[in-house]
Amino acid sequence: MAKLKIRIYPDPALAQETAPHTTFGPADQQLFDDMIETMYASDGVGLAAPQAGILKRIFVCCPSMKRGEEFVMVNPRIESSSGEAVDAEGCLSLPGISADITRATTLELTYQNRYGNLCRTTAKDFFARVIQHEMDHLNGKLLIDHFSGRKREELLKQYDLAKAAEKTGKPRT
Ligand code: NI
Repeated sequence: MAKLKIRIYPDPALAQETAPHTTFGPADQQLFDDMIETMYASDGVGLAAPQAGILKRIFVCCPSMKRGEEFVMVNPRIESSSGEAVDAEGCLSLPGISADITRATTLELTYQNRYGNLCRTTAKDFFARVIQHEMDHLNGKLLIDHFSGRKREELLKQYDLAKAAEKTGKPRT
């Protein structure tokens, strides 16, 4: 298995629409495994294909954070959603920042699993949040795109500071 290079903002791949994924052969199995490996290696709970520069409707996630309990979701579709909650979210493509995002708390979802079989599931709370975050990636939308004006500028400034701090290796105060 290979670790994929995670694209970080403002990489153009993160702002693109993605295409349906239609093949489930050995090369695809390898890609799904590589995405899972990359997610764990980065301490993420989800990773969408565009974050690896692949413009396909694929993401992996593991809301329980337990190895072996991860999901591969291909061509996911939210059939219905309800409830609403606000919580902080981070993103592997925006290291160093987090923001409060309003999300639905319950989703009815259809997707294809790693073998191409059509699945239907109900996701609640944190699982529902992770799925909505990853679905955003498939539509070229990032955390910061939930905000405009001053709040967005503030987040981008924090992001630049975090990036600069990482470059110099100096602890932030
Ligand atoms: Ni993300």
